[in-house]
Amino acid sequence: MSTTPTAETISRLRCISCGATPESASEDFRCLACGDLLEFFFSHSPDTIDPAALKSLWLRRRASREPLDQSGVWRFRELLPHIPAEHAVTLREGNTPLYDMPRCAQAAGVENLQAKHQGMNPTASFKDTGMTFAASSAHQGKFRWVACASTGNTSASMAAYAARGNMRSLVLIPEGKISWGKLSQSLDYGALTCQLRTDFDGCVRILNELVRQKPIYLLNSVNPYRIEGQKTAAVELLEQLNWEPPDHIIVPGGNLGNSSAIGKALIEMRDLKLISRLPKLSIIQAHGANPFYRSVREFDGKKLQPMTADTLATAIRIGNPASWKKALRVLRETGGTVEEVSEVEIAMAKAEIGADGIGCEPASAVTLAGLKKLRSRGFVKAGESVVLVLTGHLLKDPDYTIKFHRGDLFSGTPSEAEALQAKPLQRTPIVIDASLGAVISALESADRNS
Ligand code: F0G
Repeated sequence: MSTTPTAETISRLRCISCGATPESASEDFRCLACGDLLEFFFSHSPDTIDPAALKSLWLRRRASREPLDQSGVWRFRELLPHIPAEHAVTLREGNTPLYDMPRCAQAAGVENLQAKHQGMNPTASFKDTGMTFAASSAHQGKFRWVACASTGNTSASMAAYAARGNMRSLVLIPEGKISWGKLSQSLDYGALTCQLRTDFDGCVRILNELVRQKPIYLLNSVNPYRIEGQKTAAVELLEQLNWEPPDHIIVPGGNLGNSSAIGKALIEMRDLKLISRLPKLSIIQAHGANPFYRSVREFDGKKLQPMTADTLATAIRIGNPASWKKALRVLRETGGTVEEVSEVEIAMAKAEIGADGIGCEPASAVTLAGLKKLRSRGFVKAGESVVLVLTGHLLKDPDYTIKFHRGDLFSGTPSEAEALQAKPLQRTPIVIDASLGAVISALESADRNS
């Protein structure tokens, strides 16, 4: 791995609550003194870094043929803890597009709306940016087995990176509550896939006990290497914006690792003078899986009450988010806020994003649904610039999309009446005779109605 004269980062672990700075992490990545989460911090002065030199180094690497330089994560390695190049497991993750969203901008009532599509990663979700780095750390630690509890995307990503790094992977997922697309990925990538008769939070509990007993490397987002890798999405975003921060960044909230990572990156970039001001980072949850929203709104962030979560956006069906304190800190420091959205609001937002030619999975669509609410609350102003982070690809959960367009998604649910307003967005497939006349008449009828 080539180094740069412009930056010698030295990262150390620190507990987010008691401030202890252990030399290494325990198997569950919790502080031995107080049990809270660990994070990396730069143990050197930010003044030793030349921001302009770093930016041009990162740009130069985009023309390189080196696998590490071609990764949108490892390209920014000066901001990451050191892992020797021979341990790097990469699928050339990151490098995801930033799209203008004109129709969604109109629907939300803002002038400048863009989406950073993290679903365009190798396994089609944002998890790959954290997984390349944490799987590399497992490789460095010579682990034979890696494991995670997941609502589907972490497991798909972990299975792929474990396979690339010649490691075995163990997946714990809630039975029946993840999409087939995600499940099929971990099977194809060779994971030992266990569908547990519980929810995501139940899978996490069992996994935490398992890693204390067996030499298995934990790859959930409590692993601080995951957070470090996921930070790079924000660095890449700012580079795409020519280092001009947007006014708002909006992310979905599940286990709250991603919001913590993006917020950490923003704060570090500000401290290193890579950017001059902080965007406001806001977190959106589904109403049925809203423990963080309630923590902030009802308890002023003083505690988080776990709940039994339920939402059709299965990726964020999480009732006891591990990283809530980290997320709270970045919310406060960036001046962002929290919002919750209904199932119908999520479904409509997903179809609106689709109508801009961009496919995402339901959990990603909470961002647009949340933006509309933040606009009507006045938290986001019409003239402010907004970036939505789309976390997963449309094809992760095609069942949801088909049911929505057929009008079945909310049949027999308490949302049935509210769902009537989604009708204009539904594009039901039509079955017609195999004749030219039938196709022309379908075309003419569609033309009249558009
Ligand atoms: N969007 C998607 C598509 C996700 O898969 C997840 C989390 C989130 C948003 C929320 O991110 O947890 O960092 O707040 N999925 C995890 C998984 C939990 O197991 O795949 P978060």
